[in-house]
Amino acid sequence: MQKSTTLQFDQLVRERKSVREFQKHHMIPQEELHEIIRMAQTAPSAWNLQHWKVIVVQDPEQKRALLPIANNQQQVVDASAVFIILGDLEANKNVEKVHLPLVHSGVMPKEVYSQIAKDTEEEYKLRNYKSRDSAFLNASLFSMQLMLAAKSIGYDTVPMGGFQVDPLIEKLHIPKRFVPVMMMTIGIASSSAYTTTRLSLDDVIIHESF
Ligand SMILES: Cc1cc2nc3c(=O)[nH]c(=O)nc-3n(C[C@H](O)[C@H](O)[C@H](O)COP(=O)(O)O)c2cc1C
Repeated sequence: MQKSTTLQFDQLVRERKSVREFQKHHMIPQEELHEIIRMAQTAPSAWNLQHWKVIVVQDPEQKRALLPIANNQQQVVDASAVFIILGDLEANKNVEKVHLPLVHSGVMPKEVYSQIAKDTEEEYKLRNYKSRDSAFLNASLFSMQLMLAAKSIGYDTVPMGGFQVDPLIEKLHIPKRFVPVMMMTIGIASSSAYTTTRLSLDDVIIHESF
């Protein structure tokens, strides 16, 4: 593998910063939106169930309606689009759609498919904390990739946990199957992100065990 690939990735992750001021009235072309979401969809997920959905809000009136729900964070109005990333509490329902094409094309043995279908059914039989944890875990991986994918084609983002969950669910008619995980604005930066720091490696790494 070429070393330059690593360098490009390094640059991408260093340059992704949370931007909160965006050029107003800019529309992201549909092809670019799709390109970003397609790249984000390459994220890994448990059993490849792809426990995510993304609501894309671009309509100016709809963005304004999100302002109070997003604790009056102005970026939801100014940015080109707002992504609302949802986690799937019933991701086991994706089993057939995800895996059967592989069975039909001869890539996945039938027995492997049957085992996955059995295991996921078992895991999701109880709609409990586990399905919620999985929804958040897997949708967060998708969200991270969304930010990097956006940056890779020149857009900035800010991930947002500061929003009112119930009013959001009501406003966007989010079905019970899905849980809002994150809001994210995307657009062209009009001013730089704040300077931020990271903990030292010593603060983060525990060698072998605590
Ligand atoms: C889960 C999550 C929730 C966040 N919520 C908000 C938010 O509501 N508003 C905001 O301005 N930034 C929010 N941020 C952005 C963080 O403040 C930011 O990522 C952090 O300060 C590091 O800065 P950087 O992203 O520029 O490296 C959130 C980030 C994450 C990951």
